[in-house]
Amino acid sequence: MIKILTIIGARPQIIKAAALSRAVRDRFVDAVQEKILHTGQHYDDNMSAVFFDELGIPRPDYNLGVGSCGQGVQTARMIEGIENVLQSEPFDGVVLYGDTNSTLAGAVAAAKLHVPAFHVEAGLRSFNMAMPEEINRIVCDHLSSILFAPTETAVDNLRKEGLDSDSARFDRGRRRLVCFAGDIMYDNSLYYGSIAEKGSNILQRLGLESSNYVLATVHRDFNTDDPLRLESIFTALFHIAEERKTKVVIPLHPRTRKMLSGDSGKNLYDRLLNSDHISVVPPVSFLEMIVLEKNSAIVMTDSGGVQKEAFFYQKPCLILRPETEWVEIVEQGAGVIADADFERIVAAYDSFCGKPVHFPHLYGDGDASGKILETIVDYLK
Ligand code: UD1
Ligand code: UDP
Repeated sequence: MIKILTIIGARPQIIKAAALSRAVRDRFVDAVQEKILHTGQHYDDNMSAVFFDELGIPRPDYNLGVGSCGQGVQTARMIEGIENVLQSEPFDGVVLYGDTNSTLAGAVAAAKLHVPAFHVEAGLRSFNMAMPEEINRIVCDHLSSILFAPTETAVDNLRKEGLDSDSARFDRGRRRLVCFAGDIMYDNSLYYGSIAEKGSNILQRLGLESSNYVLATVHRDFNTDDPLRLESIFTALFHIAEERKTKVVIPLHPRTRKMLSGDSGKNLYDRLLNSDHISVVPPVSFLEMIVLEKNSAIVMTDSGGVQKEAFFYQKPCLILRPETEWVEIVEQGAGVIADADFERIVAAYDSFCGKPVHFPHLYGDGDASGKILETIVDYLK
């Protein structure tokens, strides 16, 4: 029996961890014991607790309660807390997800204590070093023992950085391993996609008609913290809602809500609340989000996870960023990079209306969790 520590902190990591925890419970219960550490990076009920309840994730064994603070302070507090846990109880390895500050902290703490780190979603690159996430990914990949890449592009990115299998020796002579596992979010989309609509009334509650609305999310710091970009994106959403007579639904991240309501938000939040064509709602649960994604006409987002879920549920996606790590979506013509540019957003919206789009299988076979657990068990033998 091996013992792993899953380190999570932000919304998308909690959701990803649900897939692995489910696989541990259903198929690896005799081989793997999992404990969960929550850094507390996200803490509102609708950014954290809701996912544990809804997705049946075991309650965290540890919660560091770090909360919101500057990048350096937040990461430092997490490293300290994770180090304490790793010193208080032996673990055979830690599982890290994605590219948040919680991921970075887990990688640094584990590497310094010679605890193998297993990075799920390794190899993604935006090549934009202004993103805190890009820094987190690069450091985490370089410190991790097993790199679980979700796409072939991610495998290539790792190779180009010299991070192929055998590129490093870790404690006890163990070598680095690069593994194409497929995307763990795809596991979730298949599993929860088949049950999300049962009993959900979110469409009725928000007055939405299936295939007749745009689903939008915005939370990236370079969009929320830059008043011009924020204004440009939301002006484009107003334009599409009002001029194209399309309902737009926006589950609003707390970061974005804060900026829209603040001085730099230019009353955009009040305008959103008063619009007949726009529904701004607090963050929704994962099952509700799936229902919103599956029934939308078009998705507009700067989120990594939402870009992919749009693809899994065969919805065209307008990417509110200057680039994406999920380049396949754009290469397939299922996504368009519109950045925060009013003209490009409106033009991309118009170009998608009624256009046939293809969604080939690109993200593995839907059992990334099984592959990840098998590989970890084998590696630690
Ligand atoms: C973080 C990740 C980002 C990920 C996103 C998922 C980093 C550097 N960024 O960004 O990669 O895409 O999570 O959603 O790790 N807040 C609340 N309540 C909460 C959580 C946050 O009000 O429960 C507000 C606070 O004002 C906080 C702000 O949101 O300062 C930003 O939170 P933070 O976790 O620092 O970054 P995210 O923008 O959420
Ligand atoms: N999500 C959710 N409720 C919301 C918005 C998003 O459950 O109100 C889910 C979404 O379906 C996806 C994940 O959160 O699985 C994406 O997280 P986020 O956009 O916060 O971060 P990113 O993926 O960009 O790191």
